[in-house]
This record gives sequence, structure tokens and C-alpha cells, in this order.
Amino acid sequence: MAKSFDTLPSVDQRNSEGLQGLNPELISTSAYWRVDIRDEVESTQSEFKLSASSDDNFEGQVIVAEYQSKGRGRLDRSFESEKYLALTFSFLLKPLRSQEEWSWLPLLIGSSVVEAINQILQNGSERSQVLTKWPNDIVTSDGLKMGGILVEQRDSYLIAGIGLNVHHRREQLPVPHAISLDLFSNRRNKRELILSEILKKIEERYLLWNSLGMTDVEKNKYQESSLTLGRSVLAQLPGGKQISGVAIGIDPNGSLLIQTVEKIEKVSAGDVIHAFGNTQIR
Ligand code: BTN
Repeated sequence: MAKSFDTLPSVDQRNSEGLQGLNPELISTSAYWRVDIRDEVESTQSEFKLSASSDDNFEGQVIVAEYQSKGRGRLDRSFESEKYLALTFSFLLKPLRSQEEWSWLPLLIGSSVVEAINQILQNGSERSQVLTKWPNDIVTSDGLKMGGILVEQRDSYLIAGIGLNVHHRREQLPVPHAISLDLFSNRRNKRELILSEILKKIEERYLLWNSLGMTDVEKNKYQESSLTLGRSVLAQLPGGKQISGVAIGIDPNGSLLIQTVEKIEKVSAGDVIHAFGNTQIR
């Protein structure tokens, strides 16, 4: 495995709980990725913007931050985490396919993250699985949020950012309906391994999509990873409109198809709330 790093391991990066900075030597990726670990940034997404021209940005460039002071989520939300607790990184892709097809990529990335985490968890039961919640939250089967994905298009390329709660104790999580991988798996996981596995899965599926487009295999993988499909949902659209019905599918652009009492509605952006018995999961 080839490796390329812009930073050296720093041995004294350890917080009061014994949590350490990422050790680049433990991150294993193919030569496709070039991983750059930064200590503190505003947002790994914005780090790409700072580059002078798009020639400075290359496919496979990954920026990981130990701490983000202005981490961003979807729909203008923030994504916050104490240092060393989360895995927060962004990467650049320059897809070869036509731009109309790019809207599938956020879903492909979310589903690849889920595949990677489930492999790490070596899931035997449904309880130990993580899933995607449309559009691209990473959740447990009871709907607790472990992470999220933000994909932004800039001219001819995409910046995809992933934020995953890894080492958080319950009181360190931002909201009651959040969970960390350590809490979920009841063990201390290694952020280096999680990063390596996620990049590997994304590379595999993205490169296939780049050459073949959306295949049935890719569609099935997404469906298998989805907590949303087949469930009763309430979609909250950015303008305030709400749609309730059953999530029956995803169209080729990644929009969620909801069967309401009257018709099939297509939702391209927003949040989905799932009903679990008497509880609503955001
Ligand atoms: C969401 O849940 O709404 C998406 C969260 C995405 C957070 C990640 S952390 C790495 C990258 N940098 C950011 O500022 N945001 C994304």
C-alpha cells in the first residue's frame, strides 16, 4: 500500500482523557488518496476553497482535522466536536461522468461509509448495524445519529465532507438523538482504521460508478444500507413544506420518492423524520 502524508506523527498530541491525535503511520490507503492531517481548521470543507486555483486541487486529496472551529453541516447547520473525539475529513473528487449524474454521489458516499463501518463492527445482528438515513446521515437501526455527510459542488469538482462521532461519551454528544461509534460498539475504536476503511470503500464504489454509472449492484447496495426506504416518513422541506407518506424509492438523481395518500412526491432536499412505534426519530 502506498502512502502519502503531509504531516508527521506528533507524539505529544494527547488530551486529558488519553485521546491522541491521528497517527499517520496507522492510516493505510491506496495511492489514489493523499491524506493531509491538520491540527485545527475552521472547516475541512473550506480548506479546499483556500487553494489558489482549481489546479491546486486534485482528485483524491483528503484533508483531516483534529478540530474544526466552524464545522459545517447540511442546510447551514453547524457540526461541532471536541478535539480528537470525532473523525472529520473532506476529500476532493473530479467525476468523469456528466454533472447531471453527480447527484447520486452523496448517497454513494453515505452508503460506502455505512459499508465500511459495518465491516469494522463485523455485524452479525441488525442491532450492530449502522445504516443511512436519507439523504446521508449515518444512523443506528433505532435512528440515533452517528455522523453526517456534506457534499458541495464547486465548478468542475466536488468536496465531500464526513463527520463521524467516534469516541464521545453520552454527555459529550451534541444532541440526545446522537451516538458515537464507541458507545454503540461498546469498545474503543481506532480512528485511523475507520478512515482507512471508509476511503477504501469510497474508492471502490466511486471508481466503478465513474466508469459504469449507476448499476443495479450499486442501487441494491444503497437500498441495503438505507433505514429510510420502506418506512413511514415525514419529510421537512427547506421552505417549511412537509410531506408525509411511505418512502418507496430513490430516483436516479438521488431524490427520495414518497407515496402520499394522493400521489408520489419527489423530495430533493430536506430532512426526514422516521416513525418508530410512538417515537419520532430525527
Ligand atoms: C450533517 O450532518 O449535516 C453533515 C455534517 C458534515 C460534517 C463534516 S465534518 C468534515 C467536513 N467539514 C465540515 O465543516 N463539515 C463536514
